[in-house]
Amino acid sequence: MDVKVIARRRFLRFMAESSFFSVFSGASNAFSEDFLDPDLRYILSQKKRVVSSAESAMDVFDLEAVARKNLPPAHYGYIATGVDGERTQIANRLAYEKVQLNMRRLIDEEPIDVGIRLFGSTWGSPLFMSPAGSQKAFDPLGELAVAKAARSRRALQILSTASTFPIEAVNEARGEPVWFQLYASKSWLFNEVLLKRVEDSGCKVLVVTVDRPTALSRQTQRAFMQQDSRDCAACHGPGTDPEKGIIRGHWPMLDGLDKEKMAASEKYPLDWKMIDRIRRQTKMAVVLKGIVTGADARLCLERGVDGIVVSNHGGRAEESGRGTIESLPEVVAAVKKKIPVLIDGGIRRGTDIFKALASGADAVGIGRPYLWGLAAFGQLGVERVLDILRAELMLTMRQAGTKSIDEITPAYIAR
Ligand code: FNR
Repeated sequence: MDVKVIARRRFLRFMAESSFFSVFSGASNAFSEDFLDPDLRYILSQKKRVVSSAESAMDVFDLEAVARKNLPPAHYGYIATGVDGERTQIANRLAYEKVQLNMRRLIDEEPIDVGIRLFGSTWGSPLFMSPAGSQKAFDPLGELAVAKAARSRRALQILSTASTFPIEAVNEARGEPVWFQLYASKSWLFNEVLLKRVEDSGCKVLVVTVDRPTALSRQTQRAFMQQDSRDCAACHGPGTDPEKGIIRGHWPMLDGLDKEKMAASEKYPLDWKMIDRIRRQTKMAVVLKGIVTGADARLCLERGVDGIVVSNHGGRAEESGRGTIESLPEVVAAVKKKIPVLIDGGIRRGTDIFKALASGADAVGIGRPYLWGLAAFGQLGVERVLDILRAELMLTMRQAGTKSIDEITPAYIAR
């Protein structure tokens, strides 16, 4: 790594660790970040500049600073958290610093086209919004505000099973069906009912998240929750326990599911046969989110899966310590362009998008950055995040001499 980069990182870590920055005072809440791992503080942001409008944000970290100011500690902690010691979340981000680009000179790069086609649709850029639950926690309009931003920027939005608005309302705000992310249940009836509802809403692509079958150890989230003086159960309902880090929520996509019938329905393990069952049940294209190895990518091809998202849930599910950009090459090599390969985790700059595309990704997802935008300025904040990253990508493309997404190849990766 470049000496200047190391020196800058050391300096920023020193600043992050110094007591001057250890308490963040928001509009209504002040909370300590002393417990945060310095690397985590480094990758979240060092921005103390709180911009007053979406347009004034220069990069996505400006919006993180506003989100941190606006949100109560528990809700900020829900975005910020990974699991255990945060090594996977940190690796997702820092791995991009290790990838260097070959920039080419004296190429007339105008006009630049950043549009892509994916599963028969055209999108305004290769940047998509990964599924994230509970978006009302960040803005009263939650997923609807995100849908409106996606509509205005022709962006792909993937709606979470844990959405706080139902898919029908989100599709209306988006102006066309979004993709839906499924947390499959062992109870087959749950999947059957949900798949029918989602298919009836017009959804064409189902994204099945396969990376979080077990209980999670979200220590950062717990630490933030414990600093929140509000009564969490008043909004989240009984069973919510900040001390234990347990949050309950209302998921409209589960409304109408009969708990007794679910309990009595056939049960199957969450394994590859479950994926076969889901594929047989639906006409939607089935994409698996959470694949991080060539071995599992080969199994995806064998089972007839239609696409892959290389993801580790933004470091919120497992503590492999491996960044998704480090997993991408082996997945791309295994897939041999037979199905689309998407990626998310740690993408914060246009250069990161370029690096992922050059490493073989067909599209690139963000989670936390658009949630920061949402918490900062609602729909306008999400639009600003999409605009910033698109503009940064175009700038990188100009510097590399690439006119279209197809031209971004492994030749642009220095090592
Ligand atoms: C998520 N993610 C997620 N993934 C998923 O499949 N279903 C979900 O409901 C959620 N919920 C969720 C909530 C929050 C607050 C975050 C930050 C993330 C993971 C998400 O789809 C994506 O994989 C990561 O966020 C990508 O990493 P970055 O961009 O956040 O670093």
